[in-house]
Amino acid sequence: MTPTDRRHLVELERVYKFYRPEVAVLRDASTQVERGEFVYVTGPSGAGKSTLLRMIYRAEVPDHGRILFCGRDVGKLRPSAVPFLRRNIGVVFQDFATKILRSRSVFDNVALALEVLGAPSRVIRTKVTAVLESVGLGGREPEIAGNLSGGEQQRIAIARALVNDPPLLLADEPTGNLDPDLAMDVARLFDEANAGGTTVIFATHDRTILSARPRRTVAIIDGATLEVDPPSASGREMPVALVA
Ligand SMILES: Nc1ncnc2c1ncn2[C@@H]1O[C@H](COP(=O)(O)OP(=O)(O)OP(=O)(O)O)[C@@H](O)[C@H]1O
Ligand SMILES: [Mg+2]
Repeated sequence: MTPTDRRHLVELERVYKFYRPEVAVLRDASTQVERGEFVYVTGPSGAGKSTLLRMIYRAEVPDHGRILFCGRDVGKLRPSAVPFLRRNIGVVFQDFATKILRSRSVFDNVALALEVLGAPSRVIRTKVTAVLESVGLGGREPEIAGNLSGGEQQRIAIARALVNDPPLLLADEPTGNLDPDLAMDVARLFDEANAGGTTVIFATHDRTILSARPRRTVAIIDGATLEVDPPSASGREMPVALVA
């Protein structure tokens, strides 16, 4: 075993994940994400993008191999340690709409991420107000979340992931189902978080995002991870199979 390189916030070491015995979703997948990096994870539908992200925040565990967060093997964490891992990871889920409390206010939807950590109400108010402002929802605090548009609800989900200022942000298709302009606006929020020092792992097969905002890109192909050039960064096209 090589000593952990502390520059790496997340490391995948020869990870295998099977949902069925004969089918490996991930097969010998290895990659590292440095602190402060912004990395895309791409690949066609069903490639294993969500599975990879879910293993980082310990919603799934690898069948073989290891995933390290700050040098700790997340697959080996005791159940009582998992909440501590998750305090460090903001997650924007692919099915964000199901995570929004539609009958509660915009403020409450974001505040709950801090309430579970026992933050004082004065701190909650200050942070929630600031993060809502940063995602373009300033002044919308009292509105009922279910009355906001899909794109606005997506911003609530992003604000909730960011409000605790986590070192790592996992975004699973956060621009899915948005019109192209809104998708760019939402993608910009992740750039801003990254500019503020947050490490971002962003799963997408949205070719427009990948080419408009080129970053280091890791593709999942037949279960393995492969570094690829984003389309416009190199002037070369990605293999068609990699992007839906
Ligand atoms: N809990 C589960 N039980 C069984 N199979 C699963 C489970 N979760 C995912 N899979 C299967 O694993 C494969 C990878 O799924 P995953 O959701 O990780 O893909 P994805 O790349 O995120 O796809 P998409 O772009 O459609 O979101 C798929 O074939 C999926 O059906
Ligand atoms: Mg997915």
